[in-house]
Amino acid sequence: ASIAALTLSAGAAMADGHEGCDDGEIVVKFSHVTNTDRHPKGIAATLLQERVNAEMNGVMCMEVFPQSSLYNDDQVLEAMLQGDVQLAAPSLSKFEAFTRQFRIFDLPFMFTNIEAVDAFQASDTGQAMLDSMQRRGLQGLGYWHNGMKQMSANVPLALPTDADGLKFRVQASDVLVAQMEAMGASPQPMAFSEVYGALQTGVVDGQENTWSNIWGQKFFEVQDGVTETNHGIIDYLVVTSVDFLDSLEPEVRDQFTTILDEVTNTRNAEAFAVNEAAKQSIIDAGGTILELTDEQRTAWVETMMPVWAQFVEDVGQENIDAAQAIND
Ligand code: LMR
Repeated sequence: ASIAALTLSAGAAMADGHEGCDDGEIVVKFSHVTNTDRHPKGIAATLLQERVNAEMNGVMCMEVFPQSSLYNDDQVLEAMLQGDVQLAAPSLSKFEAFTRQFRIFDLPFMFTNIEAVDAFQASDTGQAMLDSMQRRGLQGLGYWHNGMKQMSANVPLALPTDADGLKFRVQASDVLVAQMEAMGASPQPMAFSEVYGALQTGVVDGQENTWSNIWGQKFFEVQDGVTETNHGIIDYLVVTSVDFLDSLEPEVRDQFTTILDEVTNTRNAEAFAVNEAAKQSIIDAGGTILELTDEQRTAWVETMMPVWAQFVEDVGQENIDAAQAIND
């Protein structure tokens, strides 16, 4: 090949973002929004990439784009349906345009810990939810854990009334909007990549997220402190398009989904520890963490629980009962 042609093809490969992939390999672009270090999703995505590229070399090539470097979560599912990206792992809060079933995961105080979330997802109900968007062109491949959400603001939050009148960033979820309104706060849906700037400049006063996200995006640096509310969860759906999955030869699909299942099991078992390490990193960096007394916690529960009634029809009373039975 001439030098001009070589330069051209290298340029085209770079522009496509495929520079690490060989000709003929099936390219899987995996777009996500978090950091990669000390983050359950970031670590899992990196491990998945390493294993696919080592074990499926010559057949499949995965490229991970972390930190919203390719798409925000409000763009990625449309991009997937267009075939511009093949894998994503948005939080379960971010499928509102496709299904209301996942709203159960956003209801405050629905799950007491990540093991309860895991058990619910492993149940027939949870497994059926993986297929709930097939009609819309999306296929869930598995659930990845992050962890319990904590609440932070530019003032100390000991009681829900401390949030009264404050603006809180939320993921684009009607349940989370209702939860913030129950606290008397003003919910502001916003992309993850914009939250640090919005907190820093006072566009919003507070936010809710897991320790790994509060650490990874440095939210604690621009907040008064973080209150350990454990009031909800952030968990992810690893998702692809029905079209992409159907385009794979059966043995390629099986090898890919087997690797994904193994990575899921390995990393989900570590998600709690990863969040605890992030929490410790916040403390080590001088961040303030407020622990609730039993009475204070009761006030948060009593303020937020009425939100369930608004969404019973979407999520089904039988599913709420099943989730509660797992907690017990
Ligand atoms: C958020 O938007 O706060 C989270 O869903 C980000 C993430 O992927 O953990």
